[in-house]
Amino acid sequence: MSSESSPQPPASAHVIVVGSHKDGAGKSTIAMHVAVALLNGGLRVATIDLDAQHKSLTRYVENRRLGAAQSDLTLPTHLVSTGGSRLLVEDEGIEFFSVVDAVASIAATHDVIVVDTPASDSDLIRFVHSLADTLITPLDGRLDADAHGSNDPALQIVETQHYGELVQGARQRRSRADGKPIDWVVVRNRRSSSESRDARPPGAGLNELASSLGFRCVEGLAERAVYGELFARGLTVLDRLDQATLGAPPNLAHVTAQREVAGLIEGLALPIGRTQWPSPPIAPFGEHDLLKT
Ligand SMILES: Nc1ncnc2c1ncn2[C@@H]1O[C@H](COP(=O)(O)OP(=O)(O)OP(=O)(O)O)[C@@H](O)[C@H]1O
Ligand SMILES: [Mg+2]
Repeated sequence: MSSESSPQPPASAHVIVVGSHKDGAGKSTIAMHVAVALLNGGLRVATIDLDAQHKSLTRYVENRRLGAAQSDLTLPTHLVSTGGSRLLVEDEGIEFFSVVDAVASIAATHDVIVVDTPASDSDLIRFVHSLADTLITPLDGRLDADAHGSNDPALQIVETQHYGELVQGARQRRSRADGKPIDWVVVRNRRSSSESRDARPPGAGLNELASSLGFRCVEGLAERAVYGELFARGLTVLDRLDQATLGAPPNLAHVTAQREVAGLIEGLALPIGRTQWPSPPIAPFGEHDLLKT
């Protein structure tokens, strides 16, 4: 990975990296929802799937491409890892032999690049973190409740200080490259919907960790079956959800999920030329549909 050793972060596109030390925390789901929020806001968005093993974001985009044939779904330019630091632009069949070349090339023609990463550690993953303008790290709320009997997701990071060190290294590398900061946003994700409704503030442990490691906390997506169902159709809760796209009328879970995704996007406070994103399309939901949960 020596070719990636001196980062030249793109001058134009805002780079969002979604990374964490745990599998299944919801990285790919968040990456897709953020990408679609920005696409629907009229921005030119590229997505990069660096998880060559799971390829979840790539499957999500492929599902969406199939759905786009029937409805007007927005699509990102999608690049997928083909091993090592090689990236393929799927639609165009163009292959880049280094992440630096790929990012430099797509940054010139896109406003935002959303990079989804695997939970594993490698030189490539460390390098890619140093390209982030915004780093989103979901913590899996299910693990706190199950493994520790506690609701403080800080335990996950405390357990894995390693990831905090990875981010620290990325910040130093970035600072040497262009002096820019990385806005690290830790997202409390996959908490039970009742816990999220309570909107309990982060515990003391997480707050302490936030100040020692330098991140801020934002509420993420609750644990909801709709996210898995939408993946199969390539949809997000930010799309127009109706009988035609969903195969069933939307219900209250979709509306609630739309609100929490909108809250997450707002909480990210992305500095990319807009202060307001379009409201999620709640309009198609009839009162009758909302009664079904
Ligand atoms: N908030 C959620 N509620 C319910 N299911 C979810 C939620 N977020 C993600 N999922 C589902 O959990 C599985 C893992 O999610 P996802 O792929 O987003 O996680 P990940 O962190 O990217 O995982 P990996 O480390 O394996 O790449 C998927 O089947 C996804 O549909
Ligand atoms: Mg993933």
